[in-house]
Amino acid sequence: MSIDDLLQEFDSLIPAFEEGLSAVMQADGPSSSSSAALADALEAVRVEFLGRKGRLAGLMAKLGTADPADRPALGQAANRVKEAISVRFDDALAALEKAKADALLKHFDPTVPGRAPTLGGLHPITLVMEEVCQVFQHLGFEIVSGPEVETDWYNFEALNMPGDHPARDMQDTLFIQENIVLRTHTSPLQIRTMLARKPPVAAVAPGKVYRRDSDITHTPMFHQIEGFLVDKHVSMAHLRGSLTAFLQALFGAGTKVRFRPSFFPFTEPSAEVDISCNMCGGKGHKGNEPCRVCKTTGWLEILGCGMIDPEVFRAVGYDSEAWSGFAFGMGVERIAMLKYGVGDLRMFFENDARFLRQFA
Ligand code: PHE
Repeated sequence: MSIDDLLQEFDSLIPAFEEGLSAVMQADGPSSSSSAALADALEAVRVEFLGRKGRLAGLMAKLGTADPADRPALGQAANRVKEAISVRFDDALAALEKAKADALLKHFDPTVPGRAPTLGGLHPITLVMEEVCQVFQHLGFEIVSGPEVETDWYNFEALNMPGDHPARDMQDTLFIQENIVLRTHTSPLQIRTMLARKPPVAAVAPGKVYRRDSDITHTPMFHQIEGFLVDKHVSMAHLRGSLTAFLQALFGAGTKVRFRPSFFPFTEPSAEVDISCNMCGGKGHKGNEPCRVCKTTGWLEILGCGMIDPEVFRAVGYDSEAWSGFAFGMGVERIAMLKYGVGDLRMFFENDARFLRQFA
């Protein structure tokens, strides 16, 4: 083959490549095919010409048989063709990118109002815990917390509930292993805090507690808030005054509060606290209808409390002759139900956004 024929063959690759490109573009315009597929098709054409086994390489192979004197000219021609094809290929890719951007812009209307993100809110249980803690913070209590997996000693023993104590039966317990339990109440925080501190001390401890108990009014996990205060000369009057102030802050200034004798192993004397029913105003009925919330009694049981038992002080090494104190514990779900008028405990655990949104 003459040098002129060879040179011509080299040069003919450029229009052939252009044809290949436009064939791809026309067969599949930028709007009808994904731009990624189109870019792949363009790349295939490039490989067809410039690839290791492509048409340019094929021509280069013939160079071996050419007259050595002609080789520089042919080499230059090969480079020129390669350069020209590369430039056209890059142009085609750039055009494709631009077409893609233009298509996007055509559908983009910057005047359309944005989509507001849905904001979450705090769970009603969290809201009540925060509110209760806030009231006690104003009364000078600090907030403490502790583990949900407890030893038997913190959960029972140090609270004057030895292994054979019948009061343990009231707190159907979930055991992790022998002597390790999911705490059945927040009272271990009394022990932990007293051990870590010297009196005087006043603290509230919100948190999760667990009991082997599950029906429409009990869930195996629920929330409590514990509170206690130790100082010199603390009396039942301080307990009564503090809890009355707290309950009236939470349920309204007109709320009536009554204390009924009760029993807890870790307080002596102990009491159960009732508030006047906030649904019927303590009347036991609404018009002619009997009040279902307080079951016509006019009172709602709201928490347990008492003066800290000397046995508890003994367990933590406090001198019960020098110090006295009170303690109380309340169930958060119950308070939330009464405060917000929620009739079914399970609502708090179902994560129904229509329910939860009402508190946000
Ligand atoms: N821990 C008790 C319970 O879960 C409540 C309580 C706490 C009672 C503190 C008195 C004092 O039932």
